[in-house]
Amino acid sequence: MDPYLLGLRLEGRRVVVVGGGAVASRRIPALLDAGADVLLVSPKVAASLEDLAAAGRIRWEPRGYRPGDCAGAWLVCACTDDSEVNAAVAAAAEAQRTWYVRADDAGASAAWTPASGRAGDVRIGVLSVDPKRGDPRHSAAIRDAVVAGLQSGRLSARHGRRHPAGVAIIGGGPGDPGLITVRGRQLLAEADVVLTDRLAPRSLLDELRDDVEIIDAGKIPYGRAMAQEHINAALVGHAQAGRFVARLKGGDPFVFGRGAEEVLACLRAGVPVTVVPGVTSAVGVPASAWVPVTHRGVAQEFHVVSVHVAPGDERSTVNWELLGGSSGTLVLLMAVERIGAVADELLRYGRSPDTPVSVIADGTLPTQRTINSTLEQVESCVAEEGVRPPAIVVVGDVVSVAAEITELMRHVTA
Ligand SMILES: C[S@@+](CC[C@H](N)C(=O)[O-])C[C@H]1O[C@@H](n2cnc3c(N)ncnc32)[C@H](O)[C@@H]1O
Repeated sequence: MDPYLLGLRLEGRRVVVVGGGAVASRRIPALLDAGADVLLVSPKVAASLEDLAAAGRIRWEPRGYRPGDCAGAWLVCACTDDSEVNAAVAAAAEAQRTWYVRADDAGASAAWTPASGRAGDVRIGVLSVDPKRGDPRHSAAIRDAVVAGLQSGRLSARHGRRHPAGVAIIGGGPGDPGLITVRGRQLLAEADVVLTDRLAPRSLLDELRDDVEIIDAGKIPYGRAMAQEHINAALVGHAQAGRFVARLKGGDPFVFGRGAEEVLACLRAGVPVTVVPGVTSAVGVPASAWVPVTHRGVAQEFHVVSVHVAPGDERSTVNWELLGGSSGTLVLLMAVERIGAVADELLRYGRSPDTPVSVIADGTLPTQRTINSTLEQVESCVAEEGVRPPAIVVVGDVVSVAAEITELMRHVTA
């Protein structure tokens, strides 16, 4: 017969554990998490159990099992390494109609302990239906897969009664779908509507249920990007219609991502909103090309700069004089098309012409490529190589550290 699965609510209820070895050391913490009143009977116990007894969390009788020990128990665990003792414990429990688990003989147990784990507000239990022939590692592997799937959002488990409301602004990381956070992935899996950007990790969209509406905010018919006010209106409109909206963005929403504008728009409309930070391309993309943005003895500071307008443009608020005069690492976003003007400005304000520069395009994606150059040569290099956005430009001596790492890597992987 298949076992009947039940969740035992053990708070304040007596559980007798006989034997204080490895099995008891695994079971007792879980029993305590469930609030059980644990009586441990064993002449010797593992150090962790001794600590629990010393802290008053369990009662320990330092002696062998005696008839009568199971009195008053709701559950009995026979975990000694002596099968005769385990059999005597089981017989006593059976006689008083108390559920019992024998660690040494599943076939002689009234109950079996499932491989269990927790994901959010659910507890997962996995039992092999034939523990005589079943492999406990198989149950544990299934448990691990389910827990990991739920935690990561790969297994879609939408709340029926507690469906999230409002809008989640989610940083998707620089492009590799493995670089979104666990929280981001969970919320994405719960969404009814997803508004996605061009640089968001779009391959994650394939995992969504068929009924999830996906709005491509990076593109609308006729090739224009969706205006920010339309994005804001869509976020608010869908949320007000009772849908849970995930706004999936590239990198971190608050790093040149207009995430705060979207937060403000939601709040002004009375829509609840949450933000999930992401791995910003400003740091994640250099790392993916082995460029550390700081390095002891090389760079104590790094500056992240948007070059969506060129130096000298009246809309630019960047202090290029200060950046040219500093020795810190410069991480430039949206700079590819204006790299010549940037290099001129940095040279003008004091950076050396042979300052190393790395241009990393499509960072963390299968098409990633890196072009190494110098401040003096970078413009022609970018043109010759036909580098296209998205790309991160790193200026500074940390680029030489990356060269050292990649050289060593060649030997290690060879
Ligand atoms: C509007 S900004 C958005 C930045 C984003 N919020 C972040 O934290 O990464 C877009 C710029 O980020 C950089 N970028 C984003 N993803 C990138 C990637 N995978 N590889 C290289 N650069 C990237 C490029 O400079 C691109 O032009």
